[in-house]
Amino acid sequence: MIILGIESSCDETAAAVVESGRQIRSSIIASQVDTHAQYGGVVPELASRMHIEAIEPVVDKAIVEAGISLDQIDGIAATRGPGLIGALLVGFSFAKALAWGRDLPLAGVNHLEAHIYSLLLLEEPPQFPFIALVVSGGHTNIYHVTSPHQFELLGQTRDDAAGEAFDKVSKMMGLGYPGGPVIERLAKNGDPNEIKFPRSMLEKDSLDFSFSGIKSSVARYLHLHPDMDEADQATVAAGFQAAVIDVLSKKLILAARSRKCKQIGIAGGVSANQTFAAALKDRSAKHGIKVFSPPLPLCGDNAAMIAARGFTMIQNNELCTPDHDVFSRTKI
Ligand code: KG4
Ligand code: ZN
Repeated sequence: MIILGIESSCDETAAAVVESGRQIRSSIIASQVDTHAQYGGVVPELASRMHIEAIEPVVDKAIVEAGISLDQIDGIAATRGPGLIGALLVGFSFAKALAWGRDLPLAGVNHLEAHIYSLLLLEEPPQFPFIALVVSGGHTNIYHVTSPHQFELLGQTRDDAAGEAFDKVSKMMGLGYPGGPVIERLAKNGDPNEIKFPRSMLEKDSLDFSFSGIKSSVARYLHLHPDMDEADQATVAAGFQAAVIDVLSKKLILAARSRKCKQIGIAGGVSANQTFAAALKDRSAKHGIKVFSPPLPLCGDNAAMIAARGFTMIQNNELCTPDHDVFSRTKI
């Protein structure tokens, strides 16, 4: 079965062709990041307009690169939510029109479940059950994934998402958007132990997160040290990143141990952080826990993961009808 996946929940217009739920024939991502960077973050109205311009050429390119024709597609999967409503509407409406026009089944995919499916696209994927962290600019959610269709939410952020904290700290330091990659690069030249930023663990055994305290603490530090050179900035970046990694790793290992899982998967934009992935692998190994992370092109938003999730939904007959609409909030 050949599935066309479409993703437009935030600032990437993406389309992919995936065969049998796992074989990626093509994966095209048109990023709007350079445009939004000029404004220091994603501007929803601009995102919608850019999706409208990009959607058709991106889908065409995915089909051409897969070496197939439109007639060979057996089903369509598109992100239904959560995300920016105007942005979601572009991809989902396009997918609806294509599906009804060609009499194809349409799966309306939950974007967070799809991020978990980026782990199932690995050559050696985690086996069920496993613990999954979806960590991005909008979410920091821990799930107990017990089957291809069951995602139990164990914990989530009570304020900022981890990626959002990276973006805000970067902005405060005048380093631009997105913050994750630039903070990670800078942190390589700093001592992570020199400044001890707070680790908010919340109540004992809680699997929820709070990153606003770390962010405020960095803001305070920057206020008290206005004249920083690059070495000082590297020290702040390393200290901040270490605090975030520490909290994420501790909570994930706690989740795995409490659910007696020997596997943890990380997905979403922040999972591209190699310092995080390496630290988590190191710490988890001490508990006999194996860590999985997607290849870099599948860490951030992409349509291959949408097609992979859509494949199992179509197999399961979980299909959209014309009255289905997009949704902005988390549903799992
Ligand atoms: O999943 P994603 O592409 O989009 C959504 O938010 O859904 O994630 C983007 C987020 C941004 O906050 C960005 O700063 C963060 O992922 N990010 C990183 C890294 N690369 C991207 N955070 C930390 N380290 C990175 N290397
Ligand atoms: Zn995402």
